[in-house]
Amino acid sequence: MTKLEDIQNVCLRRGIVFPTAEIYPNISGFFDYGTIGTLIKRKLIEYWREFFVKNENNIVEIDGSTVLPENVFKASGHLKGFVDPITQCKKCKSIYRADHLIEEKTKKFVEGKSEKELTSIIKKEKIRCPKCNGELGNVRIFNLMLKTEISPIGGQTAYLRPETAQNIFTSFQRVFRTARLKLPCGIAQIGHSFRNEISPRHFLVRVREFNQMEIEWFFDPEDDKCPEFDKIKDKEIIILTREAQMKNKKEIKITAEKAVKRKILPNKWMAYFLVKEFEFYKSLGIPEHALRFRHMLLEETPHYSKGNFDLEIKFDFGWKETIGNSFRTDYDLRNHMKYSKQDLTIRTDDGKKIIPNVIEPSFGVERTLAAVLLYNFKDEKERGWAWFKFPVKIAPYISAIFPLVNKDKLPEKARKVFEKLKGKFDVFYDESGSIGRRYARADEIGIPFAVTIDYQTLEDNTVTIRNRDTKKQIRIPIDDLKEFFERILFI
Ligand code: GLY
Repeated sequence: MTKLEDIQNVCLRRGIVFPTAEIYPNISGFFDYGTIGTLIKRKLIEYWREFFVKNENNIVEIDGSTVLPENVFKASGHLKGFVDPITQCKKCKSIYRADHLIEEKTKKFVEGKSEKELTSIIKKEKIRCPKCNGELGNVRIFNLMLKTEISPIGGQTAYLRPETAQNIFTSFQRVFRTARLKLPCGIAQIGHSFRNEISPRHFLVRVREFNQMEIEWFFDPEDDKCPEFDKIKDKEIIILTREAQMKNKKEIKITAEKAVKRKILPNKWMAYFLVKEFEFYKSLGIPEHALRFRHMLLEETPHYSKGNFDLEIKFDFGWKETIGNSFRTDYDLRNHMKYSKQDLTIRTDDGKKIIPNVIEPSFGVERTLAAVLLYNFKDEKERGWAWFKFPVKIAPYISAIFPLVNKDKLPEKARKVFEKLKGKFDVFYDESGSIGRRYARADEIGIPFAVTIDYQTLEDNTVTIRNRDTKKQIRIPIDDLKEFFERILFI
């Protein structure tokens, strides 16, 4: 069993994340968040907002519909280009993603090859159905968008959005005007997206419904200066260049400034976001050796992008994209102008009429969570139980509140402490079982602190606080708890 599979089981047992409608068979690629998972997901999103929106300049948020009319995707190119090659077993009818199957069997990289080429590789390499060894059919193209009909009598085709980005492009003019934005500026959006993945797998990594945290960063292509660049120019990131991939070489560690000067990155804005992303993931407990930006090869670059530097995380099954960083240029706005016949140009301060260029950092919430779960999971013999070392910002609860024993008025006192804190913080009350077992239960869901109300509390109104990571305890007055947690959470 891989570590990620192990964690999937832990999540199931602890009710963190579990398959949707699991009492019925035959649905895969959809997950429900339980109590703990919901709290972690919300906090991750809020932390992201803090990091990429609230502490930044000239960026606003929108929250758009998940259903969009067909015209949007004609213009965006998704109707034609958002496709995967599939092949079906002639005997057992199982369907596979042809390029992945070939890559698994031959270790050759075939993304971007035509249906014909993939069919002939399958034949030449004698690749058969992994389930029943049956013969595989010709490769054909499959659109990944989930289709629906609007109105009870149908007639208007629509799609569940495959990316949140399109709402930002279609509402760009209105948001730009009403939020009184000026270039360079960003519009961010957090929300659900849908992809009819052929073979969902690797727990939260390849799913059919997922959450994205996306930013479309708009700037004048003739004036791409980045006022924030000085703050980050000396910070290092790890990049796997196209050249390195072709020559089988390793990643390089390089400062943002050098990466732009040497034209490894297309502009300062791209460098700025990559540095921020690197810091963000490290703060989530993902070690540097498990992070890299890969310059996507030409043949795998999305149809709308002039270059992608995707943040990849090393999972136990291999490296996987967790953020797509696309240089979308004016591709989307220009096409929406053409299809909608609306003027989506804007005027710069010096009166120039332009279609802005776009850098798009697009984060997958579920993939990020999978990495957070993987890298914060501690299965140490010495402690006697497996636990999560979630950073405080995204831990489901900041603290557990326990009476030392379930008698002698300690539960009543502990409840009072709980009531005092719960309006302001996510805290967790537990009085059942031994105190040792309760510490273990709190560790198992990654609660960073545990406040214990003991006999001394009844005398002097002080409590102990146990630190999850060190297991050390300090004693503080109940009246100082609020300030203690505020300081920990920087609020
Ligand atoms: N917006 C880019 C993506 O969803 O892949």
